[in-house]
Amino acid sequence: MNQPREQWASKLGFILAAAGSAIGLGNIWKFPYVAGENGGAAFIIIYLICILVIGLPVLISEILIGRTTQSNPVGAFRALGKNKFWISIGAMGVIAGFIILSFYSVVGGWSLGYIIEASSGVFSNFSDGNAANAHFVSLIGNPVWIISLHALFMTISVAIVLGGVQKGIEKGSKFLMPLLFIIMIVLVLRGLTLEGAEKGLDFILNPRWDQISAETVLVALGQAFFTLSLGMGAMLTYGSYISDSDNIFASGVQIVFLDTLIALLAGVAIFTAVFATGQNPGSGPGLIFQTLPLVFTKMPGGYLFSILFFLLLTIAAITSSISLLEVVVAYFVDDKGWSRKNAVLVFGGIIFILGIPCALSFNILSDFTLLGLTWFDMSDYVTSNLMLPLGGFFIAIFVAYFWGYQRALPNLRNGAEILFEKYSWIITAWKIFLKYFSPVMILLVLLHSLGVF
Ligand code: PFF
Repeated sequence: MNQPREQWASKLGFILAAAGSAIGLGNIWKFPYVAGENGGAAFIIIYLICILVIGLPVLISEILIGRTTQSNPVGAFRALGKNKFWISIGAMGVIAGFIILSFYSVVGGWSLGYIIEASSGVFSNFSDGNAANAHFVSLIGNPVWIISLHALFMTISVAIVLGGVQKGIEKGSKFLMPLLFIIMIVLVLRGLTLEGAEKGLDFILNPRWDQISAETVLVALGQAFFTLSLGMGAMLTYGSYISDSDNIFASGVQIVFLDTLIALLAGVAIFTAVFATGQNPGSGPGLIFQTLPLVFTKMPGGYLFSILFFLLLTIAAITSSISLLEVVVAYFVDDKGWSRKNAVLVFGGIIFILGIPCALSFNILSDFTLLGLTWFDMSDYVTSNLMLPLGGFFIAIFVAYFWGYQRALPNLRNGAEILFEKYSWIITAWKIFLKYFSPVMILLVLLHSLGVF
């Protein structure tokens, strides 16, 4: 290594960057429709349990491994795991970063494109849901539209990561995250003050337990993983830039709190508006790009709120995508001695190219499928359903059994002395959750997504 490794300039900078990674399309696009399809509040309660019992313990473990080794996922597992198997777990994280970003950037591009659509006022032409659907389908059916926006989205991410940890990621997050919170509050207030908003609130606050099945628990756990950016070393990499005086437990709780808050607020903003305008809440993945544009046309001030909404979604996607790119960049900078500039430009470019077949999955390559999945679906499936849970499983096993609490705890204690001295039951709970609950639950999810049961 030729230069000293960078660190966050402040604790708040780390929290905002990590919350930025966590808060993304998963919160604003996916969470509301998944909750909407799976019993509303009943799903949310199960999801919260998964976040606390599995998400938070694994998040703390990732940050801990990163801080202890001050390294990217591969370097971290090499330093602590000392064998090829563990190194390959780190490598799987870097590869997952490549793949996730390649499709994430395509959807980020749609969001950018929808800021332009919203600004152009085209939504006001929609008289019914079919028109909004047809518009979306025709946009993603256009290879030029979809690829150029994917390119624009990647360019923004590359520009931020080029600036480095402090001047790029941290500065960007310190500007974008407060903006995201403000826009979210404006949208929630708009939703709540619409006539008929209470039906939307009832939908998210009133548990419909009859809609809950074993499947719901699995979906909730998968969502908990994706939304907290776990299982691929993103939080590990961000954690490698913090210092020994940071309280990892407190940071983990704050990140989880912010992520959950934004998911819930997104649910409130979206469902109050969807119900108040008489639309269908269970429209699945099309909720944001197909249902919402119509919702905006029927809502007072809809023009302005539609622009704000897609700005919010884009900001959330950008602060997540930079964390994905940073995992890849950190590996080439730490382990291969590349300059940040070269690593960002080369791998930003490669990820852009890898994203092209994802973008073309909605048009030219829509018939090009493997096991019934397009390239886009396949990239999403392999990472979200296989690589992330597998990574999370091994991170839990690694800390609880291989590295072991005896070696891990003294590192965790740095900055968290007060917890160890006064609230040691919290540490005990973390140890138990990580050792027993997390691996078993994650394994169940994995087996289920592989179709074993
Ligand atoms: N947490 C992000 C979201 O909810 O959209 C997705 C994500 C970002 C997953 C970064 C993994 C990751 F490393």
